[in-house]
This record gives sequence, C-alpha cells and structure tokens, in this order.
Amino acid sequence: MNTAAALSNDFRSIFKTEKTPRTFFAPGRINLIGEHTDYNGGHVFPASISFGTYALGVKRDDQMIRFYSKNFPDKGIIECSLSDLAFDQSDGWANYPKGMFLLTKAAGHQIVHGADILYYGNIPHGAGLSSSASIELATGVLLKGLYDLQTDTISMVKLGQKVENEYIGVGSGIMDQFAIGMGKKDHAILLDCRTLDYTYAPFVLKEHDVIIINTNKQRTLAGSKYNERRTQCEEALGDLQQELSIASLGELTMEGFEAHQHLIRNEINQKRAKHAVYENARTLKALEKLREGDLAGFGKLMNESHLSLRDDYEVTGLELDAIVQAAWEQDGVLGARMTGAGFGGCAIAIVEKDRTDSFKERVNAVYRETVGYDAAFYTAAIGDGAKEI
Ligand code: GLA
Repeated sequence: MNTAAALSNDFRSIFKTEKTPRTFFAPGRINLIGEHTDYNGGHVFPASISFGTYALGVKRDDQMIRFYSKNFPDKGIIECSLSDLAFDQSDGWANYPKGMFLLTKAAGHQIVHGADILYYGNIPHGAGLSSSASIELATGVLLKGLYDLQTDTISMVKLGQKVENEYIGVGSGIMDQFAIGMGKKDHAILLDCRTLDYTYAPFVLKEHDVIIINTNKQRTLAGSKYNERRTQCEEALGDLQQELSIASLGELTMEGFEAHQHLIRNEINQKRAKHAVYENARTLKALEKLREGDLAGFGKLMNESHLSLRDDYEVTGLELDAIVQAAWEQDGVLGARMTGAGFGGCAIAIVEKDRTDSFKERVNAVYRETVGYDAAFYTAAIGDGAKEI
C-alpha cells in the first residue's frame, strides 16, 4: 500500500469515520545558496525536496477542528473551535495549522465549517529542512482545496510567512514558504525576495548527487539567535541609510558596500551586512554558473558561502563546520555548505555519484571523532511544490 492509502486508513481509524479524506502534500526544502539574504531583500536559490508533510482532511458539519499528527502520537487529538484559534503553547505543533486557519479567515476567506485533519511528515525532525513551513503550506493547500477558496499559491506562501512572523513569533523571511509552495520537480528557484520575481533553473545533475548531511544536533536557541541576526542587519541598514537611499541591504553591490561600510557604527553589524551583500552577489553568480554548465564554479561559490556564514555571519558552529570541512577534503566533492538557518541542522554537498558511499563513510568518521555521535545522510531528490495528491 502506498503512503497516501495507508494514511487514509489511519485517518478513518483515528477519527472513527467512514469518510474518505482528501490528501495534500507539501515538501521540505534545501537552499543551494543565498543564506540569510531573504529578510535582507536579496536573492535565494532553494529547491523543494521529496521529503515532506502529508495532510488529510474532511470538512465537518460543526465548528470544531480536530488535528492529529502521526509524528506526535502522545499529543493525541488536539481540538479547538473555529471561533477560538488563539496561540496556545500547550497545543505544540498544532499551532502551525491553527495559525493558518486564523490568518486565512482574517484575510477574508469564508471558513464556516470545522475539519478533521491528520498530518504525517517524513522530513527529519528539527533538521533545518523547513518542517514548519511544510506544515503551513500543507495546511494552505488543504484549506484551498477543502473550502474551495479563491486564492493562489503565492498568497498562501505569504500567509505562511505571516503565521511564522506574527503568530509563532519568528522573524523569518519568505524563502522557505516560497520554495515549498512554488517548488518544481528537477528545478531550483532563483527568487528575488524584494520583488518576489522568480525564475526556475533546471537542476538535474548527471554525474553528481546532492547529499544532505544532518548534524543531528538539536537546534536550541535557533529562534532567538536568528532574530538577533535580523536585528543586527536592520541596524546596519539604518546606519547606511544616513547617506544612501536604499530600502534593504539587497540593493547594495559589493562595491557600494565597500565604499560605505564605514557608516556602520558597530563592527559586528558590519560583518553581518557584509555577508548579506556578498552572499546576494554570490547567489546571482551561482545562477550564471549553473546556466553555463560550470558545476565546479557553482561548488566554489557554495564553499565561499559557508566561509562567510562561518566567519562573518557566525551561524555555523562546531557541528556544521566539522561536516563541511570534512566534506571539502573528500575526492569528488564540488562544493559543500550549511543550508537553512544554521546553528545545527543540515549541510549539503555536491558529490560524484560513484563516490557517495566513501564520502558518507569518511565524513561520518571525522564527525563522530569530533562530536561523539553520527551524522545522517540522505540523497536529495528535487520534487514538486505543495499540491493535492
Ligand atoms: C530559515 C528562515 C528563512 C531564511 C533561512 C536562512 O530557514 O526560515 O526565511 O532566512 O533561515 O537563509
């Protein structure tokens, strides 16, 4: 039995119903390059992956919403009413779909009936592959489908970010929701986060695989450090605006930054802004390299990105640095870097297909030696964005 059919059976037994639910899926994402540039009005280059979140739902006749996640069976069925969707710490993971319901209604959509919804995600937990944005977008396409909402994917993407920013309280940018909502099989998305203009770039590697390497490190404090980086960039921008009429760091060229960086009063903020500007330039260059078929050049830019995240943005840490350094030292590796917010989570590496086994073995040996436990390895498959299946 395939996953969707098995989940459909689970749905019926958990919610004690004969009804057949509709099934929706939203992927997770990796980011090839362009890190911590989204909330700075720069470019990102992510792709949706085949791991993701299933959401199966049926509309109810009353106003009740019942959520169940196969990933958190101890939490049982979480119930709430359409008329009381306020954030509640004790609801844990269910706050993401609750936030989607609340903000979809607040955007003026008619949702008068409740629903029973079952979730199941196979994205490695807490690995920085955007499991939360995946739940948001799985809920977004489910809401659109079940309630026949007149809306488009980009609106759902923006709603997902709003849930994160205003309901959950993490000041994240638009990258994750966009990659997950708008993803396309075998393509990466070059997105201008200032204008939301985007282009799909074919990403099919003949002789290489993209290997995802999970540090298996719990991302403690990730939210607060993330918000701190964002504030530092905003302060740097404020200083630059004394002389420059720019609305975001993404509008600055590297030359423009060099000529005006003295305006940034705080040395740490200078480094943060430098990363944002240079990373944005690298991301645009990476698209060119890919289009020219220069995968080696693309890999070099990934390496530079990691160095900048390590030294200027300071979001890597012992675990990610150990993995990426070890990856760089292996034969057949074109490039490697952390992906996502950092502070733990995952790295990615472009590795010759024939050498992936020895790559995993060697990188893991170094990692185990450094931190005392294993990393996990997955081969990335670039799949479609959120949809009904
Ligand atoms: C997290 C956020 C994104 C982005 C990345 C860093 O994944 O959710 O918006 O800022 O970190 O690039």
